[in-house]
Amino acid sequence: MTTDPFAPAVRGIDEPHPARAALRAAGPIVRFEAPAGGPVWIITDDVLARQVLVHPQVVKDPAQAPPGWDRWTAGLEPAAADQVSLTTLDGPAHTRLRQAHAPLFTARRMGGHAERFRQIAHDLLTACADAGEMTDLVADFTIRYPLTVVCDVLGVPLDRVDQAIAACRGMYADDPEEIGRAMAAFGELAAAALEEGAEGVAAELRDRVPGEITESDLHYLIFTLIYAGQLTTDPSLGFLIARLLGRDDARPDTAGLDALVRETLREHSPAPFSLWRFTSAEIELAGVRLPARTPLLIDIQGINTAPDRTIGPGLAFGAGPHYCTGAHLALVELRAVAEVLLTDFPHARLAVPHTDLRQSGLGGIQGTRLTTLPVHLRG
Ligand code: HEM
Repeated sequence: MTTDPFAPAVRGIDEPHPARAALRAAGPIVRFEAPAGGPVWIITDDVLARQVLVHPQVVKDPAQAPPGWDRWTAGLEPAAADQVSLTTLDGPAHTRLRQAHAPLFTARRMGGHAERFRQIAHDLLTACADAGEMTDLVADFTIRYPLTVVCDVLGVPLDRVDQAIAACRGMYADDPEEIGRAMAAFGELAAAALEEGAEGVAAELRDRVPGEITESDLHYLIFTLIYAGQLTTDPSLGFLIARLLGRDDARPDTAGLDALVRETLREHSPAPFSLWRFTSAEIELAGVRLPARTPLLIDIQGINTAPDRTIGPGLAFGAGPHYCTGAHLALVELRAVAEVLLTDFPHARLAVPHTDLRQSGLGGIQGTRLTTLPVHLRG
């Protein structure tokens, strides 16, 4: 295959990723060269993907990665034995940690924050509009809003949002020392949300996690919520706002907003691939024999945008035991921005033609975000 799905690239907002169609055409499970070396098998078929996502011999623990993989090149978290995390635990230990989180992120609970999220969106967009006639929403708003929202839900004081922004930006660095500094800042954010008297989901989580979870484990769990919440919602906001303001088919009334949000997430899945998975024993998938410690990825973006895709839930939030913890939070917060734009900024419009907008990505398994999103918020 000539087109590398892991290469960094810049392309037009609605231009399909050049590798997706080729991957799909190559079969339901396709061998490719992994960024950290050796083969990775990419699942391109919806039905097979859902089988893999619940397969008992497909695990997430980085301890099962191919021997010799460099953790930084592969973008892997520490092994589950070294650091407890929702994203790397498997089996009963994962289930227990999920049970601690689940009641804190239900549709009902997150729906209860909708008015507060609209207020946050209104205030931040008003500040952007007051700052100048034209504003680039991806320069500040699309990172500041999701971090303000997630800090508010967790109970991190909002005067720390700038620290959260700096910490998230630090995670994009190549330098492990800078990532270490960002992790230390996340630790401070978590500690602030867990201070005596602090109220929010972080303090509730502390009361719900299994007894063996240490304070430092708890900091890591809170880091995951903040970082996973920003990494995905930030790019989604750019695509959503561009679509809402810039495409003729996309000025729905508020009743159509949930569909618009879901459709944007399907077309521009912010996690284009699942996180890494590995076989814990030899298994066979679609006739292909895979030895233990084989890396696997689900091509979420390719599956979600397949031309023959039947109607049904997409894979933007994953599926199975690792289904996104923050899915309801994300849906409510994205919708809140769209509502505020329609109702409080009815004359908002793109400052450039929709087709001029570009998306770029760092490559690997990471998604893309708009390079700029110039908008006249007051028309
Ligand atoms: C549009 C926004 C979002 C998208 C598209 C998204 C997507 C995903 C996907 C695809 C997974 C599964 C990865 C895998 O199985 O390999 C996942 C897991 C996760 N997400 Fe999200 N996410 C979003 C927002 C959020 C938010 C706001 C939070 C914060 C609460 C969050 C927290 C998590 C966590 C903690 C996991 C790990 C769950 C586990 O492994 O059990 N996500 N997300």
